[in-house]
Amino acid sequence: MSDLPTRISLREVGPRDGLQNEQPVSTAAKVQLVDALSRTGVRRIEAVSFVSPRAIPQMADADEVWAAIDRDAAITYSALVPNLRGAVRALDAGCLDIEAVVSASNTHNLANVNRSTEESLDGIAQVIALAHERGAACYVTVSTAWGCPYEGDVPVSRVVEVARRAVADGADGLSFGDTTGMATPTRVTALIGETRLALPDVPLNLHFHNTRGTGLANVLAALQLGVADFDASVGGLGGCPYAPGASGNIASEELVHMVEDMGVDTGVDLDALIGVARVAEQIVGRELPSQVLRAGPRTRLTPFVPR
Ligand code: COA
Ligand code: ZN
Repeated sequence: MSDLPTRISLREVGPRDGLQNEQPVSTAAKVQLVDALSRTGVRRIEAVSFVSPRAIPQMADADEVWAAIDRDAAITYSALVPNLRGAVRALDAGCLDIEAVVSASNTHNLANVNRSTEESLDGIAQVIALAHERGAACYVTVSTAWGCPYEGDVPVSRVVEVARRAVADGADGLSFGDTTGMATPTRVTALIGETRLALPDVPLNLHFHNTRGTGLANVLAALQLGVADFDASVGGLGGCPYAPGASGNIASEELVHMVEDMGVDTGVDLDALIGVARVAEQIVGRELPSQVLRAGPRTRLTPFVPR
């Protein structure tokens, strides 16, 4: 294990990927969640998406949430956008870290953003150009990178082709999204390998969902190849409304709990994060799937009661 990265960067996506798949919550509750996360040591928070309110009513108040966040200067707050209109909204709101999204699978792209993958890529080229013109960075998320709920397996070569196009158009970095939890460690290793061959110097983030229980195994496979940038959502909030059966992202506290014990620094205060997962449960009014939230860290002792 000595060749694992010494530290990873966690991008917390609960406020966006998490809350977009829950019953709508108040603007104040969204701001409360972002602000609570800002006090855990997390250094990157995906706070909102600037999408059509008809498509995702849960994000209709993105402008208000964005404006109300109690910003910590050490934290990068990012926003997801599906099109140029979303990018303009994000930039006008002062966002300097934009995530443009496209699915490697054409059918998922149609379901998600009502256009073909090629049309989205053309739009993303414009988004990147505009972001750069206005001093912002633009990262491109390639969704369904390990499979599509409508089409099944997506060839590694297709994912790399989409990534290559985004990078050619100026993307500052890539994220591969396992939108419906179809990745397994072997598939993670294969895609990272091919991506490194094609695009050796491009920053790579991985976005796993724990739909089928392989989330942390996938993280370990990626860590062993030196990947050091992961999305996760507090409590395991999350999903995708256009992907039937999609459940939450890997839980942030499970990720921190596992890798810290393996000697990989995250900069995150685990107890504080577990506290925020409890806040998240109160906000959405349901029990969240995180097992570290239920059981506590492995160092938590059970009081011995003599018989
Ligand atoms: N923000 C706010 N409103 C937007 C918008 C944006 N980024 N993009 C488009 N709209 C509005 C249009 O103004 C139009 O409004 P109107 O009907 O009141 O005139 C309406 O949405 C439809 O616009 P159109 O360009 O025809 O889009 P569409 O219906 O083809 O939908 C998207 C395309 C991309 C806007 C929509 O599918 C979407 O927002 N998807 C996001 C899905 C998502 O977030 N998935 C999870 C993240 S991976
Ligand atoms: Zn996701």
